[in-house]
This record gives sequence, structure tokens and C-alpha cells, in this order.
Amino acid sequence: MNVLLLGASGRIGQRTAAELLDRGHVVTGVSRSGAVEGVDDEDFVAVAGDATDADDVAKLAAGHDAVISTLGPDEDASPEILTTMMSAVIEGLRRAGVSRLVWTGGAGGLMVGPETMLIETADFPEEWEPVARAAIDAYNVLSDADDLAWSYVAPAALIEPGERTGEYRTADRELVADDDGESYISMADFAIALVDELEDGDAVHTYLGTGY
Ligand SMILES: NC(=O)c1ccc[n+]([C@@H]2O[C@H](COP(=O)([O-])OP(=O)(O)OC[C@H]3O[C@@H](n4cnc5c(N)ncnc54)[C@H](OP(=O)(O)O)[C@@H]3O)[C@@H](O)[C@H]2O)c1
Repeated sequence: MNVLLLGASGRIGQRTAAELLDRGHVVTGVSRSGAVEGVDDEDFVAVAGDATDADDVAKLAAGHDAVISTLGPDEDASPEILTTMMSAVIEGLRRAGVSRLVWTGGAGGLMVGPETMLIETADFPEEWEPVARAAIDAYNVLSDADDLAWSYVAPAALIEPGERTGEYRTADRELVADDDGESYISMADFAIALVDELEDGDAVHTYLGTGY
């Protein structure tokens, strides 16, 4: 596939670029600077673009089969910029006539019990709340865009660089945790989950949890 990867210079983005290229996809990697370190492949081109600008997204997305977002707010930005990005990406894809979108979301909105989201649990770190709430708001915008074949794929509660095991589990709208209650995934395995979803489309119109 010819894939537009928004946020390619980020921690999850670089690993997602590598996973896509390993599987033979052709990748255009977007960041504001246009520089993506650590990815060097004849099927990869790094370009500059602003994911908060629907015109920019439309121009970038034109001619691609699908878009993956690994976008995140930088440390100087308000987390609410995630909603701005989501709206601009949705509008940009519509203008470009591209319907497939796989979005890296947040774990905070995943259910840990019949009526409890992870963000509502007593142990949820206070410092993560603003970005977790912003990610839920962005999901709510995406969930109204049924004209797009979107998938909102969330990492486990904890995601770190870690090793690429090739193993992971998914759950529809639920936090994935192991037998000890730990919810974790490495960035490399999460990148596999994103690309598997891109290729298989098993979770279209779904908020998917991932983990071990
Ligand atoms: N457990 C969880 O739920 C969990 C944990 C970690 C991360 N996440 C989510 O996963 C996503 C990615 O995380 P990460 O750690 O990989 O983020 P990151 O390293 O900060 O990368 C963010 C990427 O977005 C790009 N970006 C930011 N603003 C942009 C804009 N206006 N236009 C174009 N590109 C822009 C950055 O590039 P430039 O700055 O060069 O533009 C960078 O490539 C985030 O949405 C984060 O909330 C969830």
C-alpha cells in the first residue's frame, strides 16, 4: 500500500515506519520539520506538513491508499490540539478522497469494568489526565466520521520502547492486561498492531485496546 504516516518522526511513528517498510509498503512520513531520523529506505520519503491544517492534510493524503496517525501533542502544546488534529485529518481525508484511517489513540477511554474507564480509576496518574481526556475527546470526534473506514487503536496503559516480540492481544473497547493485571506493550509490538489493522481491517469503526 501507499501509506501516509502522520507523526513519522515520533517514538511510535519511527517504529511504525520501520514496520510498514519491512512489509513492503511505500511510506510518506510527515512531521512539521520534515525530518525523520532513523528511517532510511528507498520506499520512504520524509515531508513537512502540519496536521492541524486540513488543506495541508488533503494535499499530503492525495494519491495515498491509507493514512496512519501516530500524531501526538508536543510538550509545548496543549493536549487539546489532538482534537484539532483529528478534525483537520478527517476533513483533509474527505477532501483527498482517502477513506482509510488508522489512528493511534489513548488507553484512558478503555473500559476496565462494566462502567469504568481506565481514566476513572483511582490509580490513574494525575499527570496523564489532560492528554488522556484530550484523546477521548478526539475519539468522540472520530466516532462521528462514519463515512471514513477508521480504526482507533490504543496502546496498553504503559507503552515503552521495548523489544519486538511479534506477540500481542487486542480487545474491543477494553484495556488489555496480563494475568497479574499489568497492561503493557512495547512500541515495536504496538507498531505491529497498527500495521496489522491497516492490512486486515478487522477493527473498522472500533476503539481497540492492545497489550500482552
Ligand atoms: N498509554 C497510552 O494511552 C499512550 C502512551 C503513549 C502515547 N500515546 C499516544 O500515542 C501517540 C504518539 O505518541 P508518541 O510518544 O510516539 O509521540 P511523539 O514521540 O511525541 O511523536 C509525535 C509526532 O507527532 C508529530 N507532530 C506533532 N504535532 C504535529 C503537527 N501539528 N503536524 C504534524 N506532525 C506533528 C511530531 O513531529 P514534529 O514535532 O516534528 O512535528 C511527532 O512525529 C500520542 O497521541 C500519544 O497520546 C498513548
